[in-house]
Amino acid sequence: MSTRFGRKKLGGLAALLLMLPAFLAGCSKSTPPMDTLAPKSDFANWIFRLYMEVMGWDLLVLVIVIVAFALAVFKFSKRGDGVGSNKASDMRLEIAWTLGPALILLMIAIPTIRTIFREEPSAPPQHALKVEVVAHQWWWEFRYPGTKIVTANELHIPEHRPIWLSLRTVDVIHSFWVPALGGKRDVIPGQVNHLWFIANTPGDYYGQCAEFCGVGHANMRFRVFVDTPKQFKAWEKDQEAPPVTPKAGTAAARGEKIFADSPCTACHTIAGVSKGYIGPNLSHVGSRATLASGIMRNTPANLKRWIEDPGKMKPGVKMPDLGLRGPEVNDLVAYLESLK
Ligand code: CUA
Repeated sequence: MSTRFGRKKLGGLAALLLMLPAFLAGCSKSTPPMDTLAPKSDFANWIFRLYMEVMGWDLLVLVIVIVAFALAVFKFSKRGDGVGSNKASDMRLEIAWTLGPALILLMIAIPTIRTIFREEPSAPPQHALKVEVVAHQWWWEFRYPGTKIVTANELHIPEHRPIWLSLRTVDVIHSFWVPALGGKRDVIPGQVNHLWFIANTPGDYYGQCAEFCGVGHANMRFRVFVDTPKQFKAWEKDQEAPPVTPKAGTAAARGEKIFADSPCTACHTIAGVSKGYIGPNLSHVGSRATLASGIMRNTPANLKRWIEDPGKMKPGVKMPDLGLRGPEVNDLVAYLESLK
């Protein structure tokens, strides 16, 4: 019997030891890419402050419960002395435990409602940069109204300027979420939702679809690049320019012909070459940092692997393997990577 108990104890200890690395990983000093506690916009800051405020009230409740528990166990738990209260109720206590929680709930509700209204103005703030966000299974399209700029999975915005996003979907419900820049906003069929924020620190931030939307949901990622105003102007200028035409006789020139003659053109737009609206616009695909909705870095080797077997790299993806192999795919990669 005692051996069995010893074994049980040992098993519990082993389980605790196994869980230790997970706890310690949580204490790591490096900032994980989807950290909600490292706000980089006004919206994210409001949420962070609200979170800390609610945590403060939670802490107060925890302290009250621990003190009450300790008093009940160590001070008021003597048995057998025959002295006890024979009152059926105590009005003062009843008022205290009704008003106390109500007050705490009120103190949490006031800043929460204030933050909700602050975050949802009915019209765009002045001088806002407007961007249309279109969610697809399983990638993100970003359109900049008033310009020719259409990108996929990489949103560029300037720092210190209000950004007004209009979010819609062409298929199912998705959810736009960039933890460093603010809370989630659902993207719902038949409806345009809005989200706005002012980013305050240049850098690139990870985004992720936060609503289950099918087999590719976990791979529906994206990046937001917060640029300095100068960087953003330069980026805008490059994106507005027509795609480069490759020099005759180069691999890229052969790749352009392969692209133009292939079924790729049914889904992808390259300005001046093709018009397709099912897949991402590729006019400046070479300028992007990532491929396939942010799941890998944009390198010629990755692009080749992607074209040769998209379904292996991103299960469920709607882009088929078109059977392009060998020199053909090398030329196509050279062309696409030249589209800076
Ligand atoms: Cu889109 Cu999950």
